[in-house]
Amino acid sequence: MQFCKLFMLHFQENVSLKAYNTFGIDVKTSYFIEINSETMLFELLSDEIYLSHAYMFIGGGSNLLFTKDFDGLVIKNNLKGITIDEQDDESILLNSQSGEVWHELVLKSISLGYGGLENLSLIPGTVGAAPMQNIGAYGVELKDVFHSLKAVNLKTKEIETFNLEQCRFGYRESIFKKEAKGQYFILSVTLRLLKHPKINASYGAILTTLDEMGFRDLTIQNVSKAIIKIRSTKLPDPKQIGNAGSFFKNPEIDEDQYQTLKSEYPQMPSYLLENANYKIPAAWLIEQCGWKGKRIGNCGSHQDQALVLVNYGNANGSEVYSLAMDIQKSVKEKFNILIQPEVNIY
Ligand code: EPU
Repeated sequence: MQFCKLFMLHFQENVSLKAYNTFGIDVKTSYFIEINSETMLFELLSDEIYLSHAYMFIGGGSNLLFTKDFDGLVIKNNLKGITIDEQDDESILLNSQSGEVWHELVLKSISLGYGGLENLSLIPGTVGAAPMQNIGAYGVELKDVFHSLKAVNLKTKEIETFNLEQCRFGYRESIFKKEAKGQYFILSVTLRLLKHPKINASYGAILTTLDEMGFRDLTIQNVSKAIIKIRSTKLPDPKQIGNAGSFFKNPEIDEDQYQTLKSEYPQMPSYLLENANYKIPAAWLIEQCGWKGKRIGNCGSHQDQALVLVNYGNANGSEVYSLAMDIQKSVKEKFNILIQPEVNIY
């Protein structure tokens, strides 16, 4: 018996990816398709074009640097839908399809009055990308609110569920960036949010910003507004100037190296970690090497946040990559610390 196809899969050919990466890099992909439903995804997984080409799934394109054209198929995740799955007196389980825009999910949870996502306001990208690198900001990481996720095993085509432990979250890390890299497509993410929110306003400038904005009450709405203000003041808006947020991860060094550097640079900021190592802000290291606000051709390090590399308009990906490598080299020479990209480079 022959099965008839439910959808006609609509592949576009020779498509520019400029609108699909927040760096605004103009490269081309041989094939491009948007996936609007699970059924469409499963149909794609048996399609000849998918089976015979290199492929790449993208969400919001906010953590990507393209250095060349992609000779394969780019699959844009457009799976939408947010539901409340379960609730008790304390909490709710909020389920979101992976193609939802992260910040829209945050705003929805705040408007419903559930706490947990307010510190993660305005992070670019989609819900499906959030567990990939355990997104984090202002003292909160995705793992703090994570319940589970559903993902398709691309080899077996089975849907698997991952709980918190199975995701092996670390600082900007998860199993999906390591052992299981390229093996799964995340379909949906479930978060546990609180009906009686616990406010976390101790990080950085949150309290002073709340004060400046005249907000007296520590509510999730106010904390979210303060974080939106801090982020919009410090981080360039990708719609105005191409960027992918922090380009490098903050490096971790051991106690010996920390003591040596601290005696030479007493003003060096640092955070003591549970494993007795120290995390050093990459932004500070980069600034000390003289890169902050420096422009090289069409790209540079941002004037207000040295860790954010920006495209002034017409940069190509290899220009940005070569700037990143020069920055990495000078930090290594000055501090003997190898800073590693946070952004995925293709
Ligand atoms: N600093 C500098 N120069 C700068 C900017 C900052 O010396 O140009 C110093 C500051 O003095 C401060 C320290 O660096 O002591 C930390 O700066 P900030 O609070 O801005 O945070 P960050 O460590 O640079 C991290 C995340 C951001 C997140 C912020 C806020 C990473 C790689 N980045 O940046 O995440 O928004 O904390 O929590 O962990 C992203 O991942 O794309 C991202 C923007």
